[in-house]
Amino acid sequence: MCGILGVVGEPGALDTILDGLKRLEYRGYDSAGVALLDGGALLRVRTADGTRSVDALRDACAGLNRSATVGIGHTRWATHGGVSVANAHPHVDCGDGLAVIHNGIIENHDLLRADLVAKGHVFTSSTDTEVMVHLLEDELKCDGDLRAAMARMLPQLRGAFAVAAVSAAHPDRIVAARRVSPLVVGMTDTVAYLGSDVPALMGRVDSVLAVDEDCVVELTPGHAVVTDVHGVVVDAPVVSIDFDVEVADLGRYADFMTKEIDEQPAAVADTVAERLENLFDQPLDADVVAAIDKIVLVGCGSSYHAAMVGRVALESWAKIPAEIDIASEFRYRDAILSPTTLVIGVSQSGETIDTLEAMKHARRKGATVVAVSNIPGASMTREANASLLTKAGLEVSVASTKTVLAQVVVLQLLAISLGEARGVLDAAAATALRADLQTLPAALRIAVDDVAPMKDVANALATASSWFFLGRGSGLPVALEGALKLKEISYARAEGCPAGELKHGPIALIEPGVVVVAIVLPGPSAEKMYSNIAEVKARGATLVIVAPHDDHVVEGLGDFVVRTVPSGDAAAPLLAMVPLQHLAYAVARARGLEVDRPRNLAKTVTVE
Ligand code: F6R
Repeated sequence: MCGILGVVGEPGALDTILDGLKRLEYRGYDSAGVALLDGGALLRVRTADGTRSVDALRDACAGLNRSATVGIGHTRWATHGGVSVANAHPHVDCGDGLAVIHNGIIENHDLLRADLVAKGHVFTSSTDTEVMVHLLEDELKCDGDLRAAMARMLPQLRGAFAVAAVSAAHPDRIVAARRVSPLVVGMTDTVAYLGSDVPALMGRVDSVLAVDEDCVVELTPGHAVVTDVHGVVVDAPVVSIDFDVEVADLGRYADFMTKEIDEQPAAVADTVAERLENLFDQPLDADVVAAIDKIVLVGCGSSYHAAMVGRVALESWAKIPAEIDIASEFRYRDAILSPTTLVIGVSQSGETIDTLEAMKHARRKGATVVAVSNIPGASMTREANASLLTKAGLEVSVASTKTVLAQVVVLQLLAISLGEARGVLDAAAATALRADLQTLPAALRIAVDDVAPMKDVANALATASSWFFLGRGSGLPVALEGALKLKEISYARAEGCPAGELKHGPIALIEPGVVVVAIVLPGPSAEKMYSNIAEVKARGATLVIVAPHDDHVVEGLGDFVVRTVPSGDAAAPLLAMVPLQHLAYAVARARGLEVDRPRNLAKTVTVE
């Protein structure tokens, strides 16, 4: 979703901002803009060319001189007001001397706008953001101090925001603030940078300051001062960034999804190695761990599916009752939480607002909260009592692949450790489970390289418009994930369904032309899956069966049978996810679609 990049004190600030906005494209956006302070003047350029907007912005800026050292840039993902140049950020005040960019939603924008219009302000967009630039314009009349004006504005706003402002009257600074939405600051000796998340500053700084909620940060060349709404200086935690910039580059690959699927063995190997060394990045006290008597996992989309797989391990190996909730729904039930409840927020970005708010809710209710994230320093890691970071490297493609697998292995490693700590998993069993996870990368390599079978399926079925993915037990999250991958990048209608639920309704939709992808995992659920396969076959569906290499029952049942790589039970769901990634990718490509930035979707989902 929206991205922010600010620079103070760097010669050629415009190019730094344009490069930074290019890096932020992966978050998902539809328009872009920049405001520069140059020789006491404010210069603004905006474009609204969908996912080409940053390139269009670069073209539009081609003739500008590069002398400005201060500027702010923004990629917008439309919420209030359609995709247009008028609605693109930055927005400016009535005097064209003040510019504002914003991520999030101002919930009371209607009331604020009405007041401001009554006072004579002229609005030029339909956005909620524009109220802020006019509010700041009013507040500046008080004492001309941009930092103080920002502080006075904050209590007037309801909602979530990360906001940054530049003013021609303050040519050497950016002033910014946040509530809920993330905002980070990085510095070198001579330059200060502002970003909407840690990856925005990757490659420029090796640590960031995390700005607290309802605080104001003033950036000048090489400096940043964070103050509360009363102007009192507050400490901001410093978080180191250890991403390799290379990981964000496409290299020899056609697109990021292919690259990230291919990186899965390494993502799992690196995550296992790191988390075997040290389970937690910020540890939990041993007595807190020993007292845990219930676990609640929360996440969204693919992270929710990873949590579903992890839940099985937590119950089987740690013998702790584990519940799971879609993060956006968690607050709407009165979950029974206490300090002995462990709430685990699972999110690759660590910024998804639904998950972040669920974690905050859990903390307010007294639970112990852990973040599973791929981004060091992400908001969730700061909100949690402890963090378990995955080591998948930055994921750029909107469709999550390598981070999902890494999330599962982290949850499995947590389950093994909890099982040992509680004395319910003996040392030999724990060692065997850890050894399985260490051999997983080699099995994943085989799965990842075995692209051809699903390519054949995709070429044969690319035009099918209705798909069902069926699974049982650990095969259910695999089926749900397969359906999600397919729908988000190929735009085919795809439904993931517990195979046993089919006969309670969805089977009414099964008819010739419908494709059913059945996930058969080794174990007791397999026999029941055979029956469900027979039921859909009898109704004329086209059948794609994903099954273990030695499952002979499925031979002859499916129109296509795709084999999974042999493994133990814990690794089986992970290995079965890979062919479904191949399927989604191949269908999307066969349909001529670009896979990395599917329509309407964003990589980092910062609105509720
Ligand atoms: C699907 C996908 C999304 C995310 C979801 C949560 O491929 O990527 O469903 O899994 O938006 O995002 P995170 O993990 O950042 O919380």
